[in-house]
Amino acid sequence: MGNDIKNIDDYKSAYKKSIENPESFWADQAADFQWHTLWRKVLEPDLRQGHNKWFVDGKLNITINCLDRHLEERGHQIAIFWEGNDIRGDHRQLTYAELHQEVCRCANGLKAKGIKKGDRICFYMPMVPELAISILACARIGAVHSVVFAGFSAVSLADRIKDSSCKMVICSDFNDRGLKHIPIKEIVDEAIALDCDSVESVIVYINTGGIVPWTEERDMWWHDFIGEQSITCDAEIMDSEDPLFILYTSGSTGKPKGVVHTCGGYMVYTAYTFKNVFQYEPGDVYWCTADIGWITGHSYIIYGPLLNGAITLMFDGTPTYPDPSRFWKICEKFTVNVFYTAPTAIRALMAAGDTYVEGHDLSTIKVLGSVGEPINEEAWHWYNEKIGKGKAPIVDTWWQTETGGIMISPLPGITDTKPCFASYPLPGIQPVLVDVAGHEIEGNNVEGLLCIKHPWPSIIRTTYGDHARCVKTYFRPFPGMYFTGDQARRDEEGRYRVIGRVDDVINVSGHRIGTAEVENAIDEHANVVESAVVGCPHPIKGQGIFAYVIVRQAVPDEVVFVEEINQKLVEMIGPIAKADRIMIVSGLPKTRSGKIMRRILRKVAESDYANLGDISTLLNPEIVDEIIRKSQETH
Ligand code: WTA
Repeated sequence: MGNDIKNIDDYKSAYKKSIENPESFWADQAADFQWHTLWRKVLEPDLRQGHNKWFVDGKLNITINCLDRHLEERGHQIAIFWEGNDIRGDHRQLTYAELHQEVCRCANGLKAKGIKKGDRICFYMPMVPELAISILACARIGAVHSVVFAGFSAVSLADRIKDSSCKMVICSDFNDRGLKHIPIKEIVDEAIALDCDSVESVIVYINTGGIVPWTEERDMWWHDFIGEQSITCDAEIMDSEDPLFILYTSGSTGKPKGVVHTCGGYMVYTAYTFKNVFQYEPGDVYWCTADIGWITGHSYIIYGPLLNGAITLMFDGTPTYPDPSRFWKICEKFTVNVFYTAPTAIRALMAAGDTYVEGHDLSTIKVLGSVGEPINEEAWHWYNEKIGKGKAPIVDTWWQTETGGIMISPLPGITDTKPCFASYPLPGIQPVLVDVAGHEIEGNNVEGLLCIKHPWPSIIRTTYGDHARCVKTYFRPFPGMYFTGDQARRDEEGRYRVIGRVDDVINVSGHRIGTAEVENAIDEHANVVESAVVGCPHPIKGQGIFAYVIVRQAVPDEVVFVEEINQKLVEMIGPIAKADRIMIVSGLPKTRSGKIMRRILRKVAESDYANLGDISTLLNPEIVDEIIRKSQETH
């Protein structure tokens, strides 16, 4: 059976075993679960072609392991606590027995609508328990869920629906976020009108109430969909390597890609990492503030916690509504023991001032987590002192949509913590640093491109509909390894510090945005000839979006122009893609072969004018002076 890590010796021996004998190590972890048929082989690795298979020919259903398996022991224990946007609103809760029934009812509803194993279902929902219920219902019948963050625009939603030809969309009428009232159903209709021919039905959950547009033969209310369905539903028997879900994420080129995770390996890895990284103990209240539209919500609000029979809290609001004490009020109200959030939220709450923290009882918090972007030292200390009172270790967890689960992280109370360092690899994870030529950089106190040497159970299986793209992005750059796209340092003691992306991806408030997507949207503006987008330092968001734009005709009013560009970004991508700075320039620094020299643009965006490097090879070196001058004038 799988062993939990409780002290440093456990960690060392688990790590050693996981490297020396990975198959036996992961077989031990997988033995904790209920399998319909055991696997024939633990691992069939193929890091060159990206065909890594885990628990080969094993049969299971992840919802049996999330729900049915717990009924006897903890059927009456809370599975999900829910807190809404409105502070005066009632909270809700579901026990494991109730969640099981609701998932079965919804699964039967899906079947009644003709949904079958392998069909794709798109979600565009607020953070309500019905989202968790219907995601699990998909998994119960073997349908593949594709959750789209409900902050994305109709255009982005349509792209994602079309890419995986989803048969159904499950959405709400409206979402409330802070004081915003978002017409979700209207956006879904707009998206479907953009040639989403695969969509046969739309299920609408009444979240706030209000009038929504309706297409009679296609749309159905959630309550009618659930209707009189039975509260039991046999789980579909899935192969370990059958897809569980698709989650779109931005890359350096083209449109977002659909990262595919499969049933067996993802289950084993998210469960293992959840219990060990958070040192979860039965009865603890665990709260991850992420949105389920991102991987963190998939792995560490739904699957990881439920696989462990944990109490997981879902929050449908924002950290600053009605004021910046909201998180701490919720921690106190639910006596939260483990709290997992993003550096951007920590920075925003830190900036709001300590008075919002003071007076809240945070004494139940044992472990604090951070995810999504590098946490700066100041935020780390504030989090440690003001929230953890110096007594709750911070786990700075590094991982990615593609890795499925946490890869590098301290283990609270077990390994040491150091500000800004994700620290040590978890068992089964073999990080390496390489130079651009792909040579491994050995020893400590070094920096390089972060790769992973051996497959782990929840490694990305493919990018939906385009395996060649998956191989090209992750497995071809450094043959025989998985390439993360991140730059990292290894300190004297072997701890890892992830510095940031080396590709054209910007991390805005922990959300990955491809510069190419932003440029495409800006170029849609009639007066734009060309644009180049880079990241710039931002005190709250970590990175902001800095756009250099060449215009066709002189712009009479720059404020209006900036508004228009941002409108395009909201329309094509969503509010998260609004630019922080837009600079009109007469040209972009280009190499003689016509490639934009982004390095220079990045340095200017960072106001680092002294380190532009060699610009003599540029086709138009004079443009650099203009860009620097403008940057200094407007900063
Ligand atoms: C960044 C989020 C530094 C990194 C789970 C990675 C981090 C990208 C950390 C993945 C961390 C995530 N320290 N950087 N603790 N965690 N990142 O796919 O650049 O949304 O490649 O997954 O976020 O973002 P994604």
